Amino acid sequence: MKFKAIAFDAYGTLLDVYSVGALAETMFPGKGAAIALTWRDKQIEYTRLRSMCGRFADFWQVTGDALDFACEAQNVGLAPDARRALMDAYEKLTAFPENRAALARLQDAGVPMAVLTNGSMGMIDAALKASKLEGYFDHVLSADSVRVFKTAPEVYQLAPDAFGCAASDILFVSSNCWDICGATWFGYHTIWLNRYDQPMERLGVEPNVRGRSLTDVADYVLG
Ligand code: LAC
Repeated sequence: MKFKAIAFDAYGTLLDVYSVGALAETMFPGKGAAIALTWRDKQIEYTRLRSMCGRFADFWQVTGDALDFACEAQNVGLAPDARRALMDAYEKLTAFPENRAALARLQDAGVPMAVLTNGSMGMIDAALKASKLEGYFDHVLSADSVRVFKTAPEVYQLAPDAFGCAASDILFVSSNCWDICGATWFGYHTIWLNRYDQPMERLGVEPNVRGRSLTDVADYVLG
């Protein structure tokens, strides 16, 4: 086996964060995609600002704050029921279609696996259950336990601690390029799943491998 373990990012990698756009579109016709995009961008921006200034609030709170911003930016009023429905949808995000088959191949091969996410424990547990992915992981590791967000090293340290091995023995999987840069700097072996044909971040660091979907992860690890 090439690696002692695999750690997966959750949002964007296992779970499709833009799947909430469809619900937003039914509420705010013509604005669903824009709301979903700003919602995600602000969510990530707020994790960074809060981490830099030592002002941790968990990812559920940050996600709600980002939703409020995104709706105001699109000039739509967000009634309490609609807000609740959109936040509920975040706990039921769609998994990417290839996930289960790829994770099953890795599990059958005996590779220990973890989720390593900025998501708060409650929301990631709910989302993994709703998408029927929870049975594949030995650990679900949340930024909650260190009260700072990726790309802070304290968060990346959770997987080496959980698996009892060096970061360089762990394959880190993310479709978020910024996360891949942080994980590579930290010392993981990394695979960037470039699901959306994004350019590489200009940070002077490259992933070890590139792919497009979880199938590429299984092929790479087992091939
Ligand atoms: C995660 C998000 C931020 O850590 O992608 O799961």
